[in-house]
Amino acid sequence: MLILLNKQAILNRLPNAIHIDIFDEIGSTNDYLNTFTPKNQTPRVCLAEKQTKGKGQFDRTWQSPAHHNLYFSLLFPTSTPIHQLSGLSLMAGLSTARAIEETLKTDHKFLIKWPNDILFEGQKIAGILIESQFSNGLTQLVIGIGINVNMQQANSMDIDQAWSSLQTISGYYIDRNILCASLIRHLFADLAHFTQKNGLSSFMNEWQTRDYLFGKPVKNGIAAGINIQGQLLIG
Ligand code: BTN
Repeated sequence: MLILLNKQAILNRLPNAIHIDIFDEIGSTNDYLNTFTPKNQTPRVCLAEKQTKGKGQFDRTWQSPAHHNLYFSLLFPTSTPIHQLSGLSLMAGLSTARAIEETLKTDHKFLIKWPNDILFEGQKIAGILIESQFSNGLTQLVIGIGINVNMQQANSMDIDQAWSSLQTISGYYIDRNILCASLIRHLFADLAHFTQKNGLSSFMNEWQTRDYLFGKPVKNGIAAGINIQGQLLIG
């Protein structure tokens, strides 16, 4: 089965319209949105069926084979100063985990390995790459999220860490349009809280319920949660 990405199918599930660009193939959905200058003050989503230069954290490549997964970027301009945005990538991880659970209609908790790998039973399901530019008093965030949706081990290229996909976990094909709409809804609700209230403060309790590393040995000790800036605490 293959259900292509479809703008109207996504918009039908959203309370408000948003600009969505969908490409069959692109270098990187983050790079595309990075070309918009901070003069463009409205949010915008970019999706692609395939990325040829998908970017991961630490200059890694994000393997992006056609049709199986969600390659999603959200351009979000905000007047919130950049120093108040620390921890935003953790918030995006929480939004992503909730959107996944809502789409799968599961009570099973998806955990987050600090700072923002979404895991299921220790295997990576999704990753987040946030980039930002600042000019004329406006921070232009690009929140890039890659989710392994219907990818099977046979479709995968060389992925150098343990991973799984939503289809493998649930046993059924997932419509990426439904997942994408859920992701947009959760991100917008969370971004409103984060930018208009107190950053991560209203997300600390949820973080504790999804903190994969808590109590586990890390580089300099034992992971002991996060502080309000989203930094990892070591006990
Ligand atoms: C990670 O290394 O875990 C972060 C992966 C982020 C991948 C997404 S896919 C959509 C967006 N476009 C990119 O080039 N990267 C992000």
